[in-house]
Amino acid sequence: MNAPAELKWAAKYPELGTGPIPVEPCVSPEFFEEERQKVFLNSWLKVGRVEEIANPGDYKVKKLSFAKTSVILIRGKDGQIRGFHNVCSHRGNKVIVEQGEETFGRNKAAVVTCRFHGWVYGAKGEIVQLPEQDKFHACFEKEKNALTPVHTDVWEGFIFVNLNPAESVVPLKDFLGGYGEHMAGFPYGELPYCFSYYTYLDCNWKVAHDAFAEAYHVATIHAGSFPNVFSSGLSDVQLFGPHRSTAICLSLNAEPTPVAKLANSLVTGSLVAKRGASMLPPSVNPSRREDFSFELSVTFPNLLLHISEGIWFTHQFWPIAHNKTLWEGKYYVAAPKTNSERWALEHAQCLQRNAWLEDTATMEDTQCALESGAKQFMHLQDDEVLIRHGYTALHDYMEQN
Ligand code: FES
Ligand SMILES: [Fe+2]
Repeated sequence: MNAPAELKWAAKYPELGTGPIPVEPCVSPEFFEEERQKVFLNSWLKVGRVEEIANPGDYKVKKLSFAKTSVILIRGKDGQIRGFHNVCSHRGNKVIVEQGEETFGRNKAAVVTCRFHGWVYGAKGEIVQLPEQDKFHACFEKEKNALTPVHTDVWEGFIFVNLNPAESVVPLKDFLGGYGEHMAGFPYGELPYCFSYYTYLDCNWKVAHDAFAEAYHVATIHAGSFPNVFSSGLSDVQLFGPHRSTAICLSLNAEPTPVAKLANSLVTGSLVAKRGASMLPPSVNPSRREDFSFELSVTFPNLLLHISEGIWFTHQFWPIAHNKTLWEGKYYVAAPKTNSERWALEHAQCLQRNAWLEDTATMEDTQCALESGAKQFMHLQDDEVLIRHGYTALHDYMEQN
């Protein structure tokens, strides 16, 4: 095979190497268990947005199957958002009954009540009411039996938790480091109109992550939904500790379909259009290149956060088993003001839904094939550098923790 003219990411990031990548981390139950302990139970994970619990007393319960728990995120009367395990201090029932992966509720008094025997907890986790308290023995101390807190913090309106039970953990700001600065300042909260999907996939969470972390597949997998729309190469790849980011660019000579052209003239809801840069932080598309489409970034370990003029979207991958993953896709734009805009957003949504169906369609086949044992390694080209960095970052994080 002839040597390619330029392997720019390998030259820029020689520490990542160029060799094949073992498939074992995607198929091994033992590796999964180690990863669960060292990574998912010991790092900051995005679990929500501040807009989801906008008022005092609003709460969200997020199921975290990998940790066999769910967390209550509640906004107190002081405006602060705190997180607790959804486990009652009495006999361990779930305080809030869940209705799926995410459950929402509100209580003006900013309390939550366990339905089993009626213990009531305040927004700081404290017990505020305990029926038949006088029947408990003297050794029971109400003050020492608040809900079990989890480390909770907010960055740019994203709510994160860290399930490490230690009294203190690395602060979220330090965990995000330069990546947090890179993606800060985008008006996430001003683009609140969301459409979202989720599904359970019979694949490792990294197989799902990897399928979204390159543009090499676009010409083949997305030949139907995005024909000739995007370049396959990456631009402005930037690495920030375990986190990473790149620009995905357009093929400027592509001719949009007539319906896409009409929709794009009405709203900035679709990726299939030339984008402005007024909302972008300075280090995203730093040269303000004309063909910039969107920034694809990875918040270690399991969140893909993308931004573009008037649009942001996320993919998140929640490990359930070594070969089972919950995938969540969420896409945010400005709320439509007219019926025409509503129609144009429907078009954007259908396009995105189709693309995500195309993406997720490969994942279970990949997992199944990897589990056959026929291949011990996968081979990455230069523009799959985010995947390469993902395995390096995972390895380093597991070594350090
Ligand atoms: S288990 Fe919650 S009040 Fe009894
Ligand atoms: Fe894709």
